[in-house]
Amino acid sequence: MVTQDAVLDALRAVKDPDAQQDIVSLGLIRDLTIADSQVTFTLAFTTQSPASKATMHSMASRAVGRVPGVSKVQVKMGSGQPARPAQAPHAHGHGQAQPRPEDFIPEVKQTIAVSSGKGGVGKSTVTVNLAVALRLAGGAVGIIDSDVYGPDIPLMLGTRGRPGMFDNRIIPVEAHGMKMMSIGLLVNDKEPLVWRGPMIHSFIQQMLKDVNWGALDYLVFDMPPGTGDAQLSLSQVIPLSGVVMVTTPQEVALLDVRKAIAMFQKLNVPILGIVENMSYFVAPDTGKRYSIFGEGGGKKLADEYGVPLLAQVPLDPATRQAGDEGTPITMRAPDSAQARAFRELAASVRRRLDELGELRPLPKIG
Ligand SMILES: Nc1ncnc2c1ncn2[C@@H]1O[C@H](COP(=O)(O)OP(=O)(O)OP(=O)(O)O)[C@@H](O)[C@H]1O
Ligand SMILES: [Mg+2]
Repeated sequence: MVTQDAVLDALRAVKDPDAQQDIVSLGLIRDLTIADSQVTFTLAFTTQSPASKATMHSMASRAVGRVPGVSKVQVKMGSGQPARPAQAPHAHGHGQAQPRPEDFIPEVKQTIAVSSGKGGVGKSTVTVNLAVALRLAGGAVGIIDSDVYGPDIPLMLGTRGRPGMFDNRIIPVEAHGMKMMSIGLLVNDKEPLVWRGPMIHSFIQQMLKDVNWGALDYLVFDMPPGTGDAQLSLSQVIPLSGVVMVTTPQEVALLDVRKAIAMFQKLNVPILGIVENMSYFVAPDTGKRYSIFGEGGGKKLADEYGVPLLAQVPLDPATRQAGDEGTPITMRAPDSAQARAFRELAASVRRRLDELGELRPLPKIG
C-alpha cells in the first residue's frame, strides 16, 4: 500500500533551486491522488524559471518513482499561487490551478489548435491555409508551430529570418501579413533535437508568455502528430477555444484521429469539427473525380462525435508545391478549388467559434 505520507516524504527531498526550500513546504504539490500503485499530482509552479521547473519536474517524478510499491508516476505541470488553501474548480482546470489566458496572451481573442492523431494527413497545410483564409477575411492572425519534432511552418510560409528581441521579449517573424513563431526559426535544420515532456511544456509556455504577439483575433497552433506532451501542455497552459481535427478519408486514419479526439475531450477542449483532407482528386485533363483514399471518412467521424464536417479539401499537386515553395495555395491561387475549400473552412471555424461562445466575451457595441 502506497500512502500519501510516504509520497510527501519522498517529495520533501526535492528542493526548489530558486527558493532553496522543499517543494512540499512551498505548497507546490496539488491534487495528489494515489490509485493502487499509481501516483498522480500537479506541480503548481509560480515564478520559477523554465529550467528550475524542468529540474523539479524530473526530480519529483524520480523521487516518487523510488517509493516502494509505486509502479507509475504522473506529474502534471500547473501553475498557481503558492500556499493557496483550496482551489476553485475551473472549466478547463481538471482541478488544478490554471493561469487564465489573460495572464499570458491578454490581447488574443481566439486560440485554435490544428491536430490529428495521425502524421502526414495535412495538419501543417491546413494550419497555414486556415490562417491565410482567416487573414483574408480581415482577421489579425498569428501562428505557433508547436510541432517541435518537425517544425514545417517556416518552410511552408517561406520565412527564413530569425525572430528579433525587444524589451526582453521575442518579436515574432512576419509572413504574408501574419505573425509566426517556430522552434525551426531558432535552431539549425540539421541539429537533432531531443525533447522531453517538461521541455515541451516550457517551450509552449514561452511561446505564449515571452513572445510579443500583440492584438490578435486568431492564434493558430500547428500540432505534432500523435497525442503526446505538446497537446497536453498546450491545453494545460491556456484554455484553447477549440481544436480542428484533420483526417484523410480512409478507415486507418480514422483510428488515430479518434484517439486524438478522445484526448481533447478529456482535456475539455471543444472540438470545432473535422477537416477531411485529400478527399478527392479531379483529373485536370478529363475533369473526372477520383476518391484516392476512399470516401466518407470525414463525414463518418463528424457524425460519430456530433461535430460539423468543416471542409473537404481535394488532393492537388499545386497545394503541395505551394507549401514547399512558401506561399500557401489559398494565397497563390485564390480561385482554385483548394483555396475555396480553405475559405469555407475559415468561415465554418468562425461560425463554430461564435456558436461555442468566445473565449473572453468582448463588450457588445450598441
Ligand atoms: N490537399 C493536399 N493536396 C496535395 N498535397 C497535400 C495536401 N495536403 C497536404 N499535402 C502534402 O502532403 C504532405 C504532408 O502534409 P503536411 O506536412 O501538411 O501534413 P502533417 O499532418 O502536418 O504532417 P506531419 O505529421 O509530418 O506534421 C506535404 O508535402 C503537403 O504539401
Ligand atoms: Mg506537420
